Amino acid sequence: MEILEYPEAEVPAPLRAQVWALQEQAWPTGGADPGTSHDPALDPRSMLLVDGSAVVAALDLLGKELEHGGEVFAARGLSAVVTDPGRRGRGHGLALVTAARARIAALGADLGLFTCDRPLIGFYERAGWEVLPGAVLIGGTPEEPFPSDRPGFDKAVLAGFFSAPARARRHGFDRARIALHPGTVDRLW
Ligand SMILES: CC(C)(COP(=O)(O)OP(=O)(O)OC[C@H]1O[C@@H](n2cnc3c(N)ncnc32)[C@H](O)[C@@H]1OP(=O)(O)O)[C@@H](O)C(=O)NCCC(=O)NCCS
Repeated sequence: MEILEYPEAEVPAPLRAQVWALQEQAWPTGGADPGTSHDPALDPRSMLLVDGSAVVAALDLLGKELEHGGEVFAARGLSAVVTDPGRRGRGHGLALVTAARARIAALGADLGLFTCDRPLIGFYERAGWEVLPGAVLIGGTPEEPFPSDRPGFDKAVLAGFFSAPARARRHGFDRARIALHPGTVDRLW
């Protein structure tokens, strides 16, 4: 097994078809593959755990600048984390989200930031991600915000602090409302 990484728009077609099929199983749209799943403005990069020509697990890294507490940070997050349903529970997802954390740091991000359903907190913590207690990630746009604590949608916020400036501001993220605003395509990556 190996992990491959491509800009999302450059994933080879046979691999992309498998990624789209996995995403459709997990988050059905009923539509045809649009070719890419994310807003190109967020520099989407696909990380694929492959076994030969078979995609076993996939995720996408998204990134943007984040202003928080009067500082500007380069933030990246995980999106569309999925393992082939026939191969779940064997550590493949964990291997990929662990590698993604290291990759986000290597790409020069100040911090990693994303949300997950609360039952998955332990899964991400095992990969080195930490929960931001009481924090809320505000997706969408300033005009049409899409917060992670809106009614019926109680998500945990996961983070990794990689750069010295981000680590110095670590406590400014606890119990904070973090205005990420990734836009209207990836409303809450
Ligand atoms: C979440 C997911 C990527 C994990 O992939 P995986 O390859 O099975 O992960 P691993 O084998 O490394 O780890 C599995 C562990 O994740 C946790 N886990 C996975 N899904 C879970 C769920 N729905 N609820 C609670 N825990 C879950 C469990 O602790 C599990 O351990 P177990 O197998 O001993 O019970 C996979 O279940 C999946 O594709 N789910 C559908 C899409 C999804 O929900 N993605 C996450 C979006 S934030």
